[in-house]
Amino acid sequence: MPVPLDTIRDAFPALESGFAFLENAGGSQVPRSVIEAMGRFMTESYVQTGAGYPHSDRATAIQQQARLFVGTLVGAGDSDAVVMGQSSTLLLNRLAASIGDALGIGADDEVVVSTANHESHVGPWARWEKRGATIRWWRGDPVTGVPTLAGLLPLLGEATRVVAFSWTSNLLGDIQPVAEIVRSVRAKAPNARVIVDAVAYAPHRRIAFAECGADALVFSAYKVYGPHQAYLVVRGDLAATLQGENHFFLPDRLPYAFELGCQSYEACAGVVALGEYCSATFGGVAEAFDSFAACEEPLQRMLVDYLRSKSDVRVVGPATGDPATRVATISFVHASRPSAEIAARAHQAGIGIRNGHMYAYRLCEELGIRTDDGVVRVSAVHYNSPEEIERLIESLDPIL
Ligand SMILES: Cc1ncc(COP(=O)(O)O)c(C=O)c1O
Repeated sequence: MPVPLDTIRDAFPALESGFAFLENAGGSQVPRSVIEAMGRFMTESYVQTGAGYPHSDRATAIQQQARLFVGTLVGAGDSDAVVMGQSSTLLLNRLAASIGDALGIGADDEVVVSTANHESHVGPWARWEKRGATIRWWRGDPVTGVPTLAGLLPLLGEATRVVAFSWTSNLLGDIQPVAEIVRSVRAKAPNARVIVDAVAYAPHRRIAFAECGADALVFSAYKVYGPHQAYLVVRGDLAATLQGENHFFLPDRLPYAFELGCQSYEACAGVVALGEYCSATFGGVAEAFDSFAACEEPLQRMLVDYLRSKSDVRVVGPATGDPATRVATISFVHASRPSAEIAARAHQAGIGIRNGHMYAYRLCEELGIRTDDGVVRVSAVHYNSPEEIERLIESLDPIL
């Protein structure tokens, strides 16, 4: 039995205002359980970890619980490392630098980078050029922008050391067949590690990290109904080879090697409390994330069908609402109206969407989209309602 939308929405205090939050790919709203847990932690346990008195023991425990929760959330294996940090951008930079050092990356090495990536999963690998490596760009379909396996295969070889792509692009909303990509990489590029940006995918579907076979994955909790914090999950055999820049007297292994300075324990409390929301509303964490596709399907079908009915509108990304092909992150451009004008129109109607290059700057350049205006992006998640999409369509229809 699907969970009634009202039950879901009642758990998110911000939704009571009536404002339509349709910029969730930028950052999602948080359920009451997360807000309360963070407040409770700051009232009862807001001290430094490891000091040996009850408040400190609780702070120590919540950090450990957050790691365990995230490991379960993404289906990590027992020996995999779960690293926390301020942002996915920071964690990916640290990962790329550390793998670069561990492998002694130089002139004989290549890194394959998807041009559909958010810049946080481009720049850190592109900087390997300074070490002498060659960047091989995995370009997407010239019309939709979506990367294809056929486009990847010719780029792979003995010299490939990393393949960096996104489960879902935060601009295109596509869903990549990660397990299949990993199998192809293993077959054609036996020396390569596969690093997946799951930031734009994690709010929409359940992740099975160990099962998909990738070597590392990142996601940002603030887009998955949690606080501003991010997680990097690294396969045990890769994690064992990596070092960081932490103080010399701390263990130089993951997760600690990448966790420089104090972490946000209140964010850990919030992340753990996401589990309470999932259990209370959906009967469990896996059950919750397995429900999201069905919640989003009517929203994305309605919006994509509408946009496709407009002759001056080009959907950027898969031109389908099919939940097997895309999530409810939908971008488009208009033949004559600036994206900024379209986004402003929605704002006037009490609807949050946005325009811009979405930090997928190179993708916009590749698709001939002006980076100073970019696309209009509408991003729904499981708590959005068909009425909100109708309101959006009504507000935009006069200018589309
Ligand atoms: C696909 C994708 N990857 C990475 C990031 C960067 O995440 P963070 O803000 O945690 O650095 C974003 C942020 O929008 C994103 O959408």
